[in-house]
Amino acid sequence: MKISNTIKSGVVVAFLSAGMLSASAQEINLNQDNYTVPSWTRLTRLMAEMQSASQPYSINMTLNGDPTTRMAFAWFTNNSVKTGKVQIVMKADATVDDFNNPNITIDAVSADVKDLNYVTSKNGVEGIEANTKRSYTSHKALATDLKPGTTYSFRVGNEQGWSEIGHFTTASESYDKKEGFSFIYITDTQAQNDEMFDVSQKTAHAAQKMVPDAKFVLVNGDLVETSGSNNSEWEYEQWFSTMQDIWMNYPLVVAQGNHDTSSNSNFSWHFNTDNTFNTTSAVPTTMEGTVYSFVQGDALFMVINYEDYKKEGYFDALADWMRKQVEEHKDVKWRIATFHKNMFTGSKSHQSDSDGRLVREHMLPVFNELHIDVALQGHDHIYEVIGPVNNLTKTLVDGAVEEVETVVSGGVRENMTGKQGGVFNVNEGTLYFLNNSAGKKKYEPRDEQAMIDAYADHGVDNYWGLFSGKFGQTGEPTFSDVTVTADTIFVSTYTVNDGGTATLFDSFKIIKENGSTTNVSKAETSPVRIYNDSDNKQIVIKGVEPESVEVYSSNGSLAGRYTGTTIATNAMGSGLYIVKAIKGNKSYYGKVIVE
Ligand SMILES: [Fe+2]
Repeated sequence: MKISNTIKSGVVVAFLSAGMLSASAQEINLNQDNYTVPSWTRLTRLMAEMQSASQPYSINMTLNGDPTTRMAFAWFTNNSVKTGKVQIVMKADATVDDFNNPNITIDAVSADVKDLNYVTSKNGVEGIEANTKRSYTSHKALATDLKPGTTYSFRVGNEQGWSEIGHFTTASESYDKKEGFSFIYITDTQAQNDEMFDVSQKTAHAAQKMVPDAKFVLVNGDLVETSGSNNSEWEYEQWFSTMQDIWMNYPLVVAQGNHDTSSNSNFSWHFNTDNTFNTTSAVPTTMEGTVYSFVQGDALFMVINYEDYKKEGYFDALADWMRKQVEEHKDVKWRIATFHKNMFTGSKSHQSDSDGRLVREHMLPVFNELHIDVALQGHDHIYEVIGPVNNLTKTLVDGAVEEVETVVSGGVRENMTGKQGGVFNVNEGTLYFLNNSAGKKKYEPRDEQAMIDAYADHGVDNYWGLFSGKFGQTGEPTFSDVTVTADTIFVSTYTVNDGGTATLFDSFKIIKENGSTTNVSKAETSPVRIYNDSDNKQIVIKGVEPESVEVYSSNGSLAGRYTGTTIATNAMGSGLYIVKAIKGNKSYYGKVIVE
C-alpha cells in the first residue's frame, strides 16, 4: 500500500485506522517525497500514535566497535511487549518472505523503561495532556561476526509485530584509500514542536539526498530541546519518526549534548553504543554509551562526552581513554575527536561560557599530546572554521592555512571574516570546526572587538585571529558532507531552505603534511614580540612597525591608542593588558602584565 500524495493530514486517521499499520502484512511507504512539509511530521505522529501495541518504533542502527563486522540496533515498543529480536538477511533487497528464514537472528536485551515524561507544557502538543508519563520497553541487539563489505537487510520486532525492512552495509576491508568514504555531519537538531522537527527532518533528508553513499550520519548532540528531569520522550519519538526512513538505512554516530542530559536517560535507552568506557574508567559518565571510538577507513573517531565535566577526575579519565584509543590505533592516519560542547567557538551565546573554558583548559594539553587533527563540534549554532590551533599556545599554527579566499570585506552576519574555502594543514595543530546547526535555533557571531571585550571570560589572547576560514551565521539549517581519504579530508557544508533545497555555503580541505609551502605562510612567520620592559617602564613591540597600537585592559575596555613601537606604562594602573599592534590588514597581539 502506498499512501497517496493527495491525502491531507486531517483524513489520515480515518484512512489508516482499519488496522493497516499492523505487523508485516502491509507495506507503508514513508517516502518523504509523497508529502509536503509540514504534513510529513504530522502524518508520522499520527502513525506513531496509531501503531498497534506491539509495533516497534524509534528504530535505529549505531556503529558499535569495528564497522567491518559489527552493527548495533535499538528500538522502543510499548511496555506490553517484553521481548524483541533482530533478523538479518544477507541480501541487499530482501522481501518479507526472505525473513521466514533469516541468516542471523539475535535476541535483544529488553529493559523496562518506566514512566518517562511524554510531553511537557513547553511542547504544546495538541491533543496530548502536558506532563503525562508513558512506559516503554527499550530493546538493544548487537550483530557481530558480519562479513566485511556486505549489504544486509534487517528488521526488528517479534512475532507480535515487525518493523519495515531496513538495510546496512558493513565497512569494507579492501578500503579504497584514494576514494575514501563519506559521512554526513549534523548537529543540534534540537526540536520541541512540529515546526522545529520539520526544519531538522528537512535538513537530514536533504543531506541524505546529497550524500546517498554516506557510511553513517554523525549527530553531534542536542538531538532534542527539553532536558533534565522533565524532558520529553515525545521529542525523541518525533526525532525518530520524522526521519525513520533515514535511520532504517544509515547507521548513526551520536554524541551527547547538554540538552540530551536527563535523569531519565532517554538518550542512553535509545542508542546501542559501546559502553566500555563506563565499565573500565575510574570516572564513568552519568549517561551510558556516550564515550566511544571506532576506526573507519583511515580515520580514528573518538566520540567524547564533556557533560560530566564537574565530576572530579573526569577529564583525566577522558585523557587516559583517549591515550588508549590512539595507542591501539597509532597507525591510523587521521585522529578525529567529535563532541558537543565547543573547545573554541565565537558566538555571543557561548564564547564566554565558563564550562567551555574549563573543557578547553583541561583538554588542550591532551589534544596536543595526542596530535588530534580535527575536532568536530556542536552547541554554538554558528558556522566557524578555527585553526589549525597550536593547542599549547592557543595561537594559529604558522603557515598552516593556504588558499583561503577573501570574498567580502567581512563584518557581516553571514561572513564575519570575509573568507571562504581554504586548505588547512593540521600537521602541527587541530582544526576546530562547527557547521552551525541542523535545527531552527541560531546564534549570533561576535566580531573582533566583542572577542577582545570578553577576554576576561575566555582568556584567549587573540581569539579573533584563530578564525582562519569562513565564520558567520548561515541563517538556515546546515549539514556537512565529509569525505575522508588517505591524503585529504574534504568538508562541504550546505544550507537547506524551507523548500528542502540544499545550497553550498562553504567548502574546504584538510591535509596533514610536513612543512609549510606557500609564500603567504612564510611571510606570516615573521617573529613579532610584544612584551613589558619593566626596567624602562615601557611596553615594547618588536618585529613589526605598527601603524597604530591599541591597549585593552583585561575586562576588554580600551585603555588607550598609541603609535610607535614603545608605550610608556607609568600612567597605566597595574594589571593585565592586551596589546594589539596593527599594520595594514594584519593585527599582532601580546599579553603583558604591568606591575
Ligand atoms: Fe548544546
